[in-house]
Amino acid sequence: MKDNILIKLKEEAKRVQKNAYVPYSKFSVGATLISDNENIYSGCNVENASYGLTVCAERSAICEMIKNGDTKIKKLVIIGDSNDYVFPCGACRQVIAEFADNNTEIFIFNGAQSYKRMSMYELLPYAFELKK
Ligand code: THU
Repeated sequence: MKDNILIKLKEEAKRVQKNAYVPYSKFSVGATLISDNENIYSGCNVENASYGLTVCAERSAICEMIKNGDTKIKKLVIIGDSNDYVFPCGACRQVIAEFADNNTEIFIFNGAQSYKRMSMYELLPYAFELKK
């Protein structure tokens, strides 16, 4: 993998993945994004005894971005606790789409550090938009 920024994003995702709060699923996920302003934000999943209140890693990274004043995702990296590729859940796809465009790049890593590169459109075509 020659792309330095991609390596940096993946390493940061792995770093925060270690802090995932996952007493219930034991399935840790890390997500890191770079914004259009070239700032890097990351997040991990945070579970709750009331399972439905769990926050996924992707949404946690996006909240970090918004908190710091950026609103546009340039690239997003996701890594899960699996040998296989861990694709974002449906809810996260819609939340990612809010801050992406159809061409935003999403990189999904597996345990062997290989990745699949996908566009936002491939992940969620026809995302809901509030159009009146
Ligand atoms: N999870 C994420 O963090 N991101 C996803 O896109 C899918 C699922 C988390 C939620 C939960 O803590 C664990 O993975 C198992 O579902």
